[in-house]
Amino acid sequence: MAKEKRIALVTGANKGIGFEVARQLARKGFRVFLGARNREAGRAAAEKLRREGEKERNHEGHDVVTVLQIDVADAASVERAAEEFSRHSDYLDVLVNNAGILLDGDKDVLTATPETLETTLRTNTLGALLVAQAFVPFLKKSGAPRIVNVSSGGGQLAGGADGWAPAYCISKTALNGVTAQLATALPKFAVNSVCPGWVRTDMGGPNATRSVGEGATGIVWLAADAPQDQTSKFFRDRKVIPW
Ligand SMILES: NC(=O)c1ccc[n+]([C@@H]2O[C@H](COP(=O)([O-])OP(=O)(O)OC[C@H]3O[C@@H](n4cnc5c(N)ncnc54)[C@H](OP(=O)(O)O)[C@@H]3O)[C@@H](O)[C@H]2O)c1
Repeated sequence: MAKEKRIALVTGANKGIGFEVARQLARKGFRVFLGARNREAGRAAAEKLRREGEKERNHEGHDVVTVLQIDVADAASVERAAEEFSRHSDYLDVLVNNAGILLDGDKDVLTATPETLETTLRTNTLGALLVAQAFVPFLKKSGAPRIVNVSSGGGQLAGGADGWAPAYCISKTALNGVTAQLATALPKFAVNSVCPGWVRTDMGGPNATRSVGEGATGIVWLAADAPQDQTSKFFRDRKVIPW
């Protein structure tokens, strides 16, 4: 069933790649729920997008972005967010699981602590699954439901692990596993993982090779424009890559 305005939820959208994905989706005409674990940070980000929309004389700018407080590492927060979302809409077209953390930098796996592993997996892997579980009932009401999991080339094992940031990389390999499992459980959905490349954000640092605009492009393509029958895949720059 065709709906009037496509709706997207982007987690971790108060800054970095998530913010840029929210911006690009709003420009494409989506109504965007801007997920942020800190409501004030979410409000400031939404206000920035609204001001930009006004400058571009997009009079819908006021209505197209809604802040949704959601801490993906906290099951109760995810449940509350789904409840809050239900007061705005009964359907969702696109979920972008973007929220992520990188705690372990240059440590190797022999010195990775259980705390780092647990915290990282809880956010980057379990968080994405919990949000998907909570929002699938809304996505099922979309004519073309999509889940985009923002993963990382660091999670690729096709060429072996390079040893950098093991907890982060393990969490992204496992996130690709979550993608494959969700795709099987949801045959009418497009469920894919995507690597944005190395992007200049707080996480990526100033020396990264890509701007946030470049990093967000492949995510937005999967969220809005990729063929609906592409599912259970890992993409970078609109091309399937191994994992
Ligand atoms: N930058 C890169 O080079 C790169 C490369 C490959 C993949 N990625 C992936 O791209 C995604 C975005 O990364 P980024 O570079 O934009 O990082 P970033 O600038 O550090 O932003 C991360 C975002 O995730 C949010 N977040 C963290 N934990 C959260 C939680 N428990 N609940 C809700 N939100 C949470 C942060 O919120 P706060 O502001 O509250 O901390 C922030 O909004 C991540 O999944 C990352 O792994 C990035």
